Amino acid sequence: MSKTSKTTKSIKGTRTEQNVVNAFMAESQAYTRYMFYASAADKENYFPVGMAFRQSAENEKRHAKVFLKMLENNEVKCTGMVDAGFLKDRTTVENLECAIKEESVDGYIFYTEAAKVAREEGFDEIATHFEAIATVEKFHHDRFVTYKEQIEAGTVWKRDHVIKWQCLVCGYIHEGKTPPQVCPGCDHPYQHYYAMDMAQDVES
Ligand SMILES: [Fe+2]
Ligand SMILES: [Fe+2]
Repeated sequence: MSKTSKTTKSIKGTRTEQNVVNAFMAESQAYTRYMFYASAADKENYFPVGMAFRQSAENEKRHAKVFLKMLENNEVKCTGMVDAGFLKDRTTVENLECAIKEESVDGYIFYTEAAKVAREEGFDEIATHFEAIATVEKFHHDRFVTYKEQIEAGTVWKRDHVIKWQCLVCGYIHEGKTPPQVCPGCDHPYQHYYAMDMAQDVES
């Protein structure tokens, strides 16, 4: 049924087309923005946050491709807010705040609504993609929230129990409440360590 609707039903002129175009534009600019945010995080020595921005950016790029492939040849006006913050003056916490808002408002909230519209208009496959990608944006959102909280609390590299930490440079894994001050594998300082509990924390 959904296969038939994909081949016979045109997206042109539908609300879903507008949503897909807006999604493509939002994902494209999120990719660019997150790559800048990643560099800014690296400059502040928040290397795990830089990694999170880069990973998220790669996801957004793939999302952009998924949305672009849904469109047919057509020119569509795009609407949407763009954060016009000047990167030079912004801290990683401020960049995280911006990303957190984008992941919710332009991310899972918008995609959940867009999925409903797509179902109403008979685009079941598009709706399923909106729903799946919404879960990714929720993951991004929660990880950014956690990093913002950790930066503000000074706990990016501190736990009250033993966990695994991995060096983002050489891959060495250390167990402890903190990473080693200097990596025994590559001599990079502790800021290059990623807390391996992050993946579980944001899913709970
Ligand atoms: Fe995202
Ligand atoms: Fe290392």
